[in-house]
Amino acid sequence: MTEKELRRLVKDMSRKEKIGQLLQLPGALLSGGEEVATGPLAELGLSEEDVYLAGSVLGVWSPGEIRRLQQSYVKRHPHHIPLLFMLDVINGCDTIYPIPLGLGATFDPALVKKLSKMSARETALNGIHVTFSPMVDTVRDARWGRCMESTGEDPYLNRVMARAMVRGYQGREYERTGTFEDSRVAACVKHFAAYGAPTAGRDYNNVELSERTLREDYLPAYQAAVDAGVSMVMTSFNTLNRVPSTGNRWLMHDVLRREWGFEGVVITDYAAVAEMLAHGIAEDAREAARLAMAADVDIEMCTSCYPRELPGLLEDRTVSEKQLDAAVMRVLSLKNALGLFENPYRDLDEERVEQECLSDENRRKARRGAEESFVLLKNDGILPLAPETKTALIGPYIDSREMYGAWSFIDSESVVSIREAAEKKKNKSVPFTFAKGCEILDRGTKLIGFTDVYENTATEEEEERMLEEAVAAAKEADTAVLCLGEHRAQSGEAASRAEITLPECQLRLLRAVAAVNPNTAVVLFNGRPLDLREVSELAKAILVVWFPGTEGGSAIVNTLLGRNNPSGKLPISFPYCVGQVPVHYAQLITGRPLAGSDPNNRFLSRYTDIPNEPLYPFGFGLSYTTFEISPVRLDTAEISRNKKAENRSLTATVTVTNTGDRAGCEVVQLYLRDYAGSVARPIRELRGFERVTLGAGESAEVSFTVTEKMLRFWTIDGAYASEPGRFALYIGSSSGTENGADFTLC
Ligand code: GLC
Repeated sequence: MTEKELRRLVKDMSRKEKIGQLLQLPGALLSGGEEVATGPLAELGLSEEDVYLAGSVLGVWSPGEIRRLQQSYVKRHPHHIPLLFMLDVINGCDTIYPIPLGLGATFDPALVKKLSKMSARETALNGIHVTFSPMVDTVRDARWGRCMESTGEDPYLNRVMARAMVRGYQGREYERTGTFEDSRVAACVKHFAAYGAPTAGRDYNNVELSERTLREDYLPAYQAAVDAGVSMVMTSFNTLNRVPSTGNRWLMHDVLRREWGFEGVVITDYAAVAEMLAHGIAEDAREAARLAMAADVDIEMCTSCYPRELPGLLEDRTVSEKQLDAAVMRVLSLKNALGLFENPYRDLDEERVEQECLSDENRRKARRGAEESFVLLKNDGILPLAPETKTALIGPYIDSREMYGAWSFIDSESVVSIREAAEKKKNKSVPFTFAKGCEILDRGTKLIGFTDVYENTATEEEEERMLEEAVAAAKEADTAVLCLGEHRAQSGEAASRAEITLPECQLRLLRAVAAVNPNTAVVLFNGRPLDLREVSELAKAILVVWFPGTEGGSAIVNTLLGRNNPSGKLPISFPYCVGQVPVHYAQLITGRPLAGSDPNNRFLSRYTDIPNEPLYPFGFGLSYTTFEISPVRLDTAEISRNKKAENRSLTATVTVTNTGDRAGCEVVQLYLRDYAGSVARPIRELRGFERVTLGAGESAEVSFTVTEKMLRFWTIDGAYASEPGRFALYIGSSSGTENGADFTLC
């Protein structure tokens, strides 16, 4: 349709039809029978007509069901307007790859873009039009369960990954022409804004941030998604400085639409309009609807304030027809960009789903994503496993297929377990034995997932027997590899934890195995940073695998055997213990810094009972080989802000050498520090990185260009600008590198 035709359509629609386009229904409501009409429908106060005039559906992922629903909607709607189908496809649709926190660990945006494109194809074949991804919330509090859905603590890394995902999902065609090519889906960046900083790490809690911290550390990644052409923005559940995002006109209108120029669709998070009553911001549904409309919120997800209250708000002109038409136009424009008016079924193709989804090619991509996401935190020479090493694979994860993140809607039978991968004939170079050792969860722990309940039902006798078998296997082996970790339902939405250690039953297994076999390695499944103090003490090697997805078992065995050399780097700091959180590397220095001071001086910014530093810092990760990075060389030590000056930028160069005996990849990172600004500046901030793959003994030069623009920040006057003065740059293999050089901006 042309824009003129769309405007004509809006003009011809009844008010009820227009309001219907702003309502998103839960899919469960549409596939139920009579009981739904008397149950949830009645609860929502929705009439059958409201249902049939709805504009979009959440949470249907069967292609057959999508086809059935679209057929009946297009037929029955007075103007035959098709539905939008939306779903949280955040790490693959049928072929699952690592959780986004693992994707952050790859420091490989090209790979992440490729995986997002693969996901878009599978998603589109299943008939889904919009994915609620990328989630780009900055996460620095390991107590918050949704760390797993973000690419980490750093605004720069999150910006890079947000762009990669948006372009992978939507394709460049959409950026150029405003229409989607085949096999692409509309992306929705979330949760706007700063949902990742809830007070006390407790999900849905208030977020209290200065505007400067909000703009420096939390908004950049959302803006990167908007600049990359993201189609949709989702409002977050939280209050931001006591105003819920969903009714926050400053955030949703002044910043998102006016400052950033976002013209796409804004959708709320689940029930967030109605939740403004609970927040104590709205006395009733009418006020909630008014606040949301005033914040330019277009689609209400799964509550009914809009259908119930907009007619009255329009009647008394509290909400104008212009506001309503603008919101409807944005929703219809997205449907038009997806070509749904011409073909309501778009790429939906049940046969191709069978042929292509979970294909060997897609599995290979997912396996590569998993392998690159792994972070080797420790390795006292026992990995990779040398041929003929008798290896006992022990732990609750050796047979588990649930090694994927919380937002994966798949049949776990498609997942390759560690045991299956180890037993494959091509892995016979290392004789493996297997023992479960314990359950994932302690007895008495009960977790309620989205659809399942998880608990440990083993008896004490069964647990004793499992432990004995594991200890016996460890005794017989040259090396014991413990596959431990969080349960997948311990991370994700509504999964905040005050303690972030492994379950006691798993620590007991680790102690018992390490007591009989000093060559113990740990493969760790986790959706957040964990307290690894005891693991780090007892294990000679630690490989963090996050939740690696469909090909996780193969990727892990390939890595244990050395066919994959780990190159991942931590996208989030692993705290010494939960008492340190929120912790991140780009801290302010304070007036009494511990670093560089006399450690006997009590009056410093420090703890009296634990160190200041996290156990493992952002950007850290080992390899099976070793690398050396030369001192930094600058082509000039002064750059100018003067637009006419020659030296507007400088080039910083290092030589990276693989000093080990096998090929490997190093992620070389660039950090910048502003020694003094009109406001206190972080000790350093990531401003670039490059993956360098080198054979044993090989060297390569890596250069970064540093420009005035990279030195800008929110100054004391509220401007986004650079200030002259002395700066440092560091180039190294982790955020803690001291390999640096000073320069001046004049
Ligand atoms: C959930 C999540 C959000 C998700 C939405 C739809 O509550 O907060 O991330 O996209 O609802 O499933």
